Amino acid sequence: MKIDILTVLPELLESPFAHSMLKRAKDKGLLEIRIHNLRQWAVNEYGQIDDYQYGGGAGMVMMPEPLARAIEALSKDNSYSQIIYMTPDGERLNQSIANQLSMQENLLLICGHYKGIDQRIRDQFVTREISIGDYVLSGGELAAAVLVDAIGRLLPGVLNDETSALFDSFQDNLLAPPAYTRPADFRGSKVPDILLSGDPKKIEDWRHEESLRRTAARRPDLLEED
Ligand code: 6GU
Repeated sequence: MKIDILTVLPELLESPFAHSMLKRAKDKGLLEIRIHNLRQWAVNEYGQIDDYQYGGGAGMVMMPEPLARAIEALSKDNSYSQIIYMTPDGERLNQSIANQLSMQENLLLICGHYKGIDQRIRDQFVTREISIGDYVLSGGELAAAVLVDAIGRLLPGVLNDETSALFDSFQDNLLAPPAYTRPADFRGSKVPDILLSGDPKKIEDWRHEESLRRTAARRPDLLEED
């Protein structure tokens, strides 16, 4: 899978992909992430990419020309299954969207700044708009990093234990059960006996019960969905 990211702050996206799971995905050749600085396609020698908004009001808007040039240039070498604009007014990211996107071959993510991007780019080029939650970030970069992490860990061969993504919270609309490691007695607080029983069926049933209980207590909304 290849993911291109268009940004005015490429530095912000260096570290998130340089470690752990995403680094492994890149090293194994399962995921290629390319960061592109939008200023390469700026309209003048000052590297201008934003301007005042028509109609007045505080805040700059990212100009259509640099974005269109960038998208067109990148589209020459790639055939994007989706061109995704990261924006707080987009569709809210969830596990099902991450699953869907992890099956695509080539994505372009656009990170907005200031008051966002000119509406005409959204109308003419963007195929999907995604938000990572109901709060406002100062730019789309951290949201793009979140999306790439959520997608990347689903690619076959990325996780050490290939099945473990199947047991994540949300994968079946349930939260994950509690987890314990050694010691069996931590300062007087004991690991539930059943986990030490060695009976896989009982353990599975117990985990499912705990998942249900946790979901009902913390996220009853998940139990009501489909
Ligand atoms: Cl995708 N962008 C920004 N700027 N803020 C956000 C967001 C995205 N998702 C939630 N808040």
